[in-house]
Amino acid sequence: MAADFAANYRVNLRNRALVACGGARRLRLPINNERAASAPLPFGRDPVRTQVGIVGAGPAGLLLSHLLHLEGIESVVLENRSRAAVEATLRAGVLEQGTVDLLKATGVGERMQREGAVHHGIELRFAGRGHRIDLSGLTGGKAITVYAQHEVLKDLIAARSAAGGTILFEASDARLCDLDQKTPSIRFDHDGGSRELACDFVAGCDGFHGVCRPSMPESARTEYTRAYPFGWFGILTQAPPSSPELIYTHHPRGFALVSTRSPDIQRLYFQCDPHDDVDNWPAERIWEEFRVRLATLDGWAPCEGPVLQKNIVAMRSFVCEPMQCGRLFLAGDAAHIVPPTGAKGLNLAVADVWLLSRALVAFYRDGRSDLLEHYSETALTRVWRAEHFSWWMTSMLHRFPGNDPFQVRLQLAELGYVTSSLPKATTLAENYVGLPFA
Ligand code: FAD
Ligand code: PHB
Repeated sequence: MAADFAANYRVNLRNRALVACGGARRLRLPINNERAASAPLPFGRDPVRTQVGIVGAGPAGLLLSHLLHLEGIESVVLENRSRAAVEATLRAGVLEQGTVDLLKATGVGERMQREGAVHHGIELRFAGRGHRIDLSGLTGGKAITVYAQHEVLKDLIAARSAAGGTILFEASDARLCDLDQKTPSIRFDHDGGSRELACDFVAGCDGFHGVCRPSMPESARTEYTRAYPFGWFGILTQAPPSSPELIYTHHPRGFALVSTRSPDIQRLYFQCDPHDDVDNWPAERIWEEFRVRLATLDGWAPCEGPVLQKNIVAMRSFVCEPMQCGRLFLAGDAAHIVPPTGAKGLNLAVADVWLLSRALVAFYRDGRSDLLEHYSETALTRVWRAEHFSWWMTSMLHRFPGNDPFQVRLQLAELGYVTSSLPKATTLAENYVGLPFA
């Protein structure tokens, strides 16, 4: 594959940018704030060409575009939602140490450092008592930072915008073509017209429900799935933090989690029926559930406030193998899903695109394709570790329908062991703060 790929490029080593041979025009446009760029898009009859076509402006797609730009590699990001919708979607909140270090090192960590909260431990609460896991003490000083995913996205969009990068919001009906050829392309609709983006590689960063993974022939992929018989009911509330650190609670009525967003906004979750309706839960009923599940023997109670938002998240484990097919490389939720109990989803997406960016840099700069060839295998090693950790945390902390008292005792024995054994606590801590990217 190396010679085959490399033959199509001439490398400009001086500026570390690589220019693909061929006649299609390069795209250099400002980010369109709403759906269209201020100047007309230069898409005409001929396809516009870029080096890496990225589908999806979530954490994976935006960070990949940013990392490639820093190495002089061009990309175009296609996103089917509006910028406002992308920047408002409430999702993850916990950033691993490696994610934080990468955002800082690549110049997009300034607001995170100012507004995010560094946490050095978490609490596991069961049988009415809290037990602290000293994340930093057990991992040689590593920590997590609580900073909302949509704030990370705002920072990345601002950085791409400042660098003159191209993100096309409201680009609909993306179709991947010629993935097995040297110049694959993405056809899509934007601004009332049909468009085509020709590229060297396609990065499928379009999440679990995207079009990239299904573009791989069924015979070329194997999917591993586990659905959980419960969901998470999440709320945002206007109230100061109930606790200086996150609290993961095992309770006979089910799991509950206390997290935070800012000095006056908290994020809390409780395990629920995945088919429940948020309208069944007025604020008073929500707080009653939290009071019961989070209660301790010494009378702890959460800080309550107006419920600003409520939603139900389904829980699933999923892995697609391999994460590559021809010139298509999957990253993030497009390739794998974890239940949120380990706070790994966003962080796995970051690790994937870091790895993919290194492989693309090796290809463009050195004409090496071995890292691209091994991308899937390397990424999947870390993915399966995170899958196991997320499944383990979920199994230990949730109430499963049909759980008999024996099963509950086993969960409590596991929790007791984790909070009293140094090696077991270290296992939790090093997975939670995040294992090395590769
Ligand atoms: P996504 O964030 O899903 O981004 C994919 C992007 O692609 C989206 O912007 C989407 O609009 C776009 N897209 C999709 N299809 C197309 C298309 N055909 N064409 C163009 N664009 C397309 N993780 C945690 O750690 N903690 C949490 O609390 C948590 N809560 C979550 C709640 C929900 C409802 C969901 C869905 C996920 C949650 N996660 C959580 C997981 C975490 O948010 C994801 O792992 C993370 O967003 C993955 O990033 P990504 O870039 O791979 O995918
Ligand atoms: C969050 O703050 O949204 C959050 C924190 C920890 C998790 C999942 C979600 O495990």
